[in-house]
Amino acid sequence: MTLPDIRTADSTIALLRDPYRYISRRAAELGEDIFETRLLLRPTTCMTGVEAAGVFYDPSRFQRAGAAPPPLQKTLFGQGGVQGLDDEDHRQRKAMFLQIVERDRVEALVEVVTREWQRAVDGWIAVGQIKLYPRLQVLLTRAVCEWAGVPLPEAEVEVRARQLTALFDDAGRIGVGHLRSRAARKAADRWAAEVIDQIRAGKLDPPPSSAAYVVAHYRERDGRPMAPRVAAVELLNVLRPTVATAVYITFVAHALDAHPAWKERLANGDGGEDLAFVEEVRRHYPFFPAVAAVVREPFEWRGHRFPPGRRVLLDLYGTNHESRYWRDPDRFDPGRFLGEEPDRFAFVPQGGGEPAVHHRCPGEPISTRLMTVALDRMVRHMTYTPLAVPTALDFGRLPALPAGGYPIRLATADRAT
Ligand code: HEM
Repeated sequence: MTLPDIRTADSTIALLRDPYRYISRRAAELGEDIFETRLLLRPTTCMTGVEAAGVFYDPSRFQRAGAAPPPLQKTLFGQGGVQGLDDEDHRQRKAMFLQIVERDRVEALVEVVTREWQRAVDGWIAVGQIKLYPRLQVLLTRAVCEWAGVPLPEAEVEVRARQLTALFDDAGRIGVGHLRSRAARKAADRWAAEVIDQIRAGKLDPPPSSAAYVVAHYRERDGRPMAPRVAAVELLNVLRPTVATAVYITFVAHALDAHPAWKERLANGDGGEDLAFVEEVRRHYPFFPAVAAVVREPFEWRGHRFPPGRRVLLDLYGTNHESRYWRDPDRFDPGRFLGEEPDRFAFVPQGGGEPAVHHRCPGEPISTRLMTVALDRMVRHMTYTPLAVPTALDFGRLPALPAGGYPIRLATADRAT
């Protein structure tokens, strides 16, 4: 059986216009979970849904080497990092990330972030009115650098926050935005490589449990340290996505304002439902649209052929909204996370499967903890009003944040933790 084939020219523009819904909408039109098209001039198979995710995360069928589109390697991912590794090389490098995000390390980051929230809110109250999203980028840059053992002089905070943000916030743009992201990648790579060099030369001495120390001293399977430019990419693989949690936290603020009954319920609760709210934000809101892999050996699925070398995209946003798994998927309902844990191929905001084996994000404990800290701050420790009604998200933007950086006016803060 051949795949439904959309023989219009390249679909890159259609994907860029609606990056979160292009795959699921096309699939629905065709009545299949799978279709073939051309993206960036290359034949590409697109898949969506829980069953497709189970297939996509089978490492005997797919590899990641050669999967990332070059424009994203030169911006978001960098070159030589864990995202493009396979098999034993991948498992070993991934173990390094899992060590960096061990539970007590995440709690140490939570402590720094909580302190930075308190400090930041004092400043925000003095100013009166702020844009939440850019302020969170700065807050998280300060916190993650301190935690990771990366020196950050006060004079550099804003510029490093802008660079780290440009790696993810401008990566999906075309034109000037893309060039900004490429320039940020070059500058950030140089910065992180310098940190690695200084640690290896004994000029910097971060604590042994810190990310900078672990990355600088990590040894490859052949016993050698990573090349400085690869170590830089891996250090940025910790710093960049931690700052990117600013996107999810802005979505938490949006969800609280869009669902005031939930805000009140959480404010009067004992924190027991905070995680469910945060998980529903991760499921419902559009952040990371899709992931890419390349077929290793030919195989068939549901009668469809997958030739070797074919690039395959798995639709993460659409899978999080699949109506055969999620009841009323477009409704924001934290209650769905108050019961059993969802299937590891159905709830895939940060990838599916097992982090130690698959390419699933190792940073989920960080993003969920930092989101619950933010939720607690916003619901129980500060009083603010959004300056714009929480409007519809901008689905053409990557990530799909509402316009304007989420302006709020601060009234009071309660310093108690
Ligand atoms: C801000 C929220 C975050 C989102 C939306 C996110 C999303 C993702 C996604 C979709 C993947 C790819 C999964 C795949 O390829 O199958 C990924 C991988 C990855 N993430 Fe995250 N992530 C976030 C936070 C973090 C944090 C805080 C860290 C810090 C440790 C992190 C580090 C990584 C790394 C190193 C990979 C590559 C894993 C691999 O290739 O095996 N991420 N993330």
